[in-house]
Amino acid sequence: MPPTDPMSPSETVAASIEASEWLDAPAYRVANLVSTTLELAPVTARKVQDALHGTWLGHPLHPALATLPIGTWTLAFGLDTAASLRLNQSTRVAKTADIALQVGAAGAVVAAASGMADWRQIHGRDRRTGLVHAAVNATALGLTLGSLALRRRGRRAPARALSAAGWLALMGGAWLGGHMVYRRGVGTDHADRSPEPREYVPVIAADALKEDRPVRVAVPDPAARAEVGIVLVRHRGRIHAMGSRCSHMGGPLDEGWVQNGGIVCPWHGSRYCLASGRVQNGPSTAPQPRHAVRVRDGVVEIRRQQEPGDEALTLDDMKRAAAAPMPEVPEGARKADEVLFEHHEMMRRLFERIAAMSPDDPERRDMMRVLAGELEIHEHVEDEIFYPAVRAVSEDVPVAHAEHQQLADMLAVTLRLGTSSPEFEAQLQALHQAVDHHASSEEHSMFVEAQRLGDARLRVLGAQIEDMLDEERESRARTAFRNLKTRLLEGL
Ligand code: FES
Ligand SMILES: [Fe+2]
Ligand SMILES: [Fe+2]
Repeated sequence: MPPTDPMSPSETVAASIEASEWLDAPAYRVANLVSTTLELAPVTARKVQDALHGTWLGHPLHPALATLPIGTWTLAFGLDTAASLRLNQSTRVAKTADIALQVGAAGAVVAAASGMADWRQIHGRDRRTGLVHAAVNATALGLTLGSLALRRRGRRAPARALSAAGWLALMGGAWLGGHMVYRRGVGTDHADRSPEPREYVPVIAADALKEDRPVRVAVPDPAARAEVGIVLVRHRGRIHAMGSRCSHMGGPLDEGWVQNGGIVCPWHGSRYCLASGRVQNGPSTAPQPRHAVRVRDGVVEIRRQQEPGDEALTLDDMKRAAAAPMPEVPEGARKADEVLFEHHEMMRRLFERIAAMSPDDPERRDMMRVLAGELEIHEHVEDEIFYPAVRAVSEDVPVAHAEHQQLADMLAVTLRLGTSSPEFEAQLQALHQAVDHHASSEEHSMFVEAQRLGDARLRVLGAQIEDMLDEERESRARTAFRNLKTRLLEGL
């Protein structure tokens, strides 16, 4: 039966705020008032705003500042609660709570200024949520300041009630802030950080680029099934290239203009250095993705400059991997992908056997244990031997690791269920599909890419994997450990 109300209470609250068009008028009035004030001293205002955005930090400042009132007011709430429950009524505890509230209030003022700077640049439904977020947090601050005033007069009981209400309001405000960032992506990096193109590709005739006139070109990203936009600018004898989606909120840099050696985003005026992609002016805090440029036979060619920690592999990486020194190939060794494929097939057969067994068959549990053991061994040899080797020639490894984790979690759920229950059938089927998806993507992608390591290296790895498979199955200690783990997962 379809759900009658698909929204959770928190989603309903967020959705009703986002749909409240009446908030637009006060939002524009507040934004205009702030803008008019800032325009009285535009140069200083810009510097202050950039400081508040976190442009200097390379990261939005507001969430970092917000942790101050959240942490300190939570501490004060805890200490006040302990005092109210007569767990600790010392004056030291009371004094600590007061100081925590004061420090948090100071932090809240700076966080509010930083939040206001960010809020001025956001639009539509996020602007409405931001306004309510600010109003709720301002209420929290007001209640806390009221509490501090009462504390100075020695009226502790009502003061504690006020700051507790302030803490609750703060939690509500924090939740709305989290909604804006995690659900709506406000403040996150909106640049396209695709690794493409990894090798130089021709994109445009050099003489089509006029001085200081940004031009957008696009290259395909087959893995993302998307295209990557890149903006090219000829400036003072050099051609520069960077991602065309502004990292602030995705504005089109190719529709911007060149000023002081940087390209200005038409949406909120962030300026990025043409030579380095670094932010020269906020509100953006993240640099633009950069591309190396060369001109061959009058044609501009570009290549993405990979970022630190990037998993993208280039032809050079693969050549290096294939040329790495290698131990001697053991006689008669099979290739690693063949050994692993055979093991995949064995696990597929195990799934089919368990699914075909009668729910009441007492051997079903034993077969599940065999499957659990083989799954664990398989993941172990891949994590220990195959994945580290293949990482040099395939980008699939990080996702494969994540899928192993997911399979282990699903196996734990399956083991806990009685093998004759209907839930077990459903869970077994889900686990089967998950294992099949994982194994098939290894077979169709990772194993194919692994061939770049060369036949000999795959045979060396194959021999190591077969040795480890034997060792895992034959070692009494390893078997006992796996059995114990399975029993624990079954709930003993
Ligand atoms: S999208 Fe805001 S400055 Fe570019
Ligand atoms: Fe795997
Ligand atoms: Fe595998």
